[in-house]
Amino acid sequence: MELEIRSISLDEAIAIRHQFLKPHLPPDETLSPGDLDPEGVHLGAFLEGTFVGAMSAGPEQCPLLEVVRGSWRLRGFAVYPQHRAKGIGTRLLEEIIASASASSRNLLWGTPRLRIVDLYRRFGFETIGEPFEIEPSGLHQTVVRRF
Ligand SMILES: CC(C)(COP(=O)(O)OP(=O)(O)OC[C@H]1O[C@@H](n2cnc3c(N)ncnc32)[C@H](O)[C@@H]1OP(=O)(O)O)[C@@H](O)C(=O)NCCC(=O)NCCS
Repeated sequence: MELEIRSISLDEAIAIRHQFLKPHLPPDETLSPGDLDPEGVHLGAFLEGTFVGAMSAGPEQCPLLEVVRGSWRLRGFAVYPQHRAKGIGTRLLEEIIASASASSRNLLWGTPRLRIVDLYRRFGFETIGEPFEIEPSGLHQTVVRRF
C-alpha cells in the first residue's frame, strides 16, 4: 500500500488533533505557539490518497531546559484508529526528524503520553523530568532529541 507523507493545513492538523487527542477541548485550545509560526510544519500521512494521520512541529522553547536556539516542539501525533500499528506513526516521526535535521534545528522536544515514550527512544529521544498527569489523558513525559 502506498503511504505518502506531505504538508497539510493547520486546520487539518487541528481537526485530527481535536478528534483523537483532545476531544474534551475546543479545537482552538489545542493550539501551541509553534502551530501558528510561519515556520511550523504540519505533516499528514495519506494511505492510497486517504488522510490517515498527522504530526506537527514548530518553534517553541522547552520549559524544562535553558533557552536553546532552534528548539522545536512536536504536537498532534495521531493516526486514525483503524490504521494504527501499521507503521504510519513511525513514518510521520521519521519525516519530522528528517525535516528538523535538514533545516538545522538544534532540538526537538515533546510531551507524549508515557506509553508512547519507547517509540521516541527508538529515534534517539531521551526523557527529562518526571512523568506528569494531564487530565483526562493520563501520564505524559517530556522527551528531547538534540541535533
Ligand atoms: C501513537 C500513534 C500516533 C502511533 O501511530 P501508529 O501508526 O499506530 O504507530 P506505528 O504503527 O508506527 O507503531 C510504532 C510504535 O508505537 C508504539 N505504540 C503505538 N501505539 C501504542 C500504544 N497504544 N501503546 C504502546 N505503544 C504504542 C509501539 O512502540 C509501536 O512499535 P511496535 O509496533 O514495534 O510495537 C497512534 O497509535 C495513535 O494515534 N494513538 C492514539 C493517540 C496517541 O496516543 N497519540 C500519541 C500522543 S503523544
